[in-house]
Amino acid sequence: MPTDVRTPLNGNYSTISLRPLTPHIGAEVSGVDLNEVSDRQFQEIERAWADWMVLVFRDQKLDAEAHKAFGRRFGELHVHPLNHARSGDDEILEVRTTAQSRYTAGDAWHTDVTCDAFPPMASLLYMHETPDVGGGDTLFADMYLAYEMLSPTLQAFLEDKIAVHDGAIPYVGAYGVAPPSGEDYPRNEHPVIARHPVTGRRLLYVNSGFTSHIKDLRPKESRAILDLLFDLIATTPALTCRVNWAPQTLAMWDNRCTQHHAVWDYYPHERWAQRVSIVAETRPAA
Ligand code: SIN
Repeated sequence: MPTDVRTPLNGNYSTISLRPLTPHIGAEVSGVDLNEVSDRQFQEIERAWADWMVLVFRDQKLDAEAHKAFGRRFGELHVHPLNHARSGDDEILEVRTTAQSRYTAGDAWHTDVTCDAFPPMASLLYMHETPDVGGGDTLFADMYLAYEMLSPTLQAFLEDKIAVHDGAIPYVGAYGVAPPSGEDYPRNEHPVIARHPVTGRRLLYVNSGFTSHIKDLRPKESRAILDLLFDLIATTPALTCRVNWAPQTLAMWDNRCTQHHAVWDYYPHERWAQRVSIVAETRPAA
């Protein structure tokens, strides 16, 4: 399998420091307090984010307003389609798992809310409590590299294909939460192979959390191809980095070029985090 070690290291940053988690995806950032990020630091964080896709900031003392304020520097805050069934702040998604939970959010490979027409481009998860016994890591996978691992023949076949992303798959199917009365969860179409609006690189943009089918194929053809693509992600550790959380860690990821899987390996222990997401300014495009 090809791997792509492409990422610039610390010499390119003067106001922050980076420690890579792997050669191609994920970096820990130090030298910054997210309560007071200078314009210069913000520019370098944006550049590091484009390079590494997943950034991890440790030992950050953030309240909900500071979490949202940092998120707002990237764009408009997203309101999650499940918020109709929850109380609290619309711009904060609670990710809390206890011994009574029937599921934990994100416990399968997915990209956040790709059922939306303008899916969140970024998510910023701030960890409050981790399980006493360890576990509760999150895996992230590099969708540029997933695309590059496909044969040129399969890349060419998928190039102009469109897939349907349906919120009912996770929210009703996995979580059992009915949509608001008289409404359906969002359902939208996106290209199977998209191009990142900042880096211009091609990437695989289907995920097992939301993608129901590829248009213009017979159902069995669509299922077989999606399963092949989902298996690539689930069975290729070289695509991934792993974030090991501690309280007061914030990780932000680029939903336009990654997938993630929150591992629920700590039952019956508890984990609590809050997520802020940023609405993309453009729809995913080929
Ligand atoms: C998610 O945003 O899918 C949850 C991630 C996590 O809890 O680690």
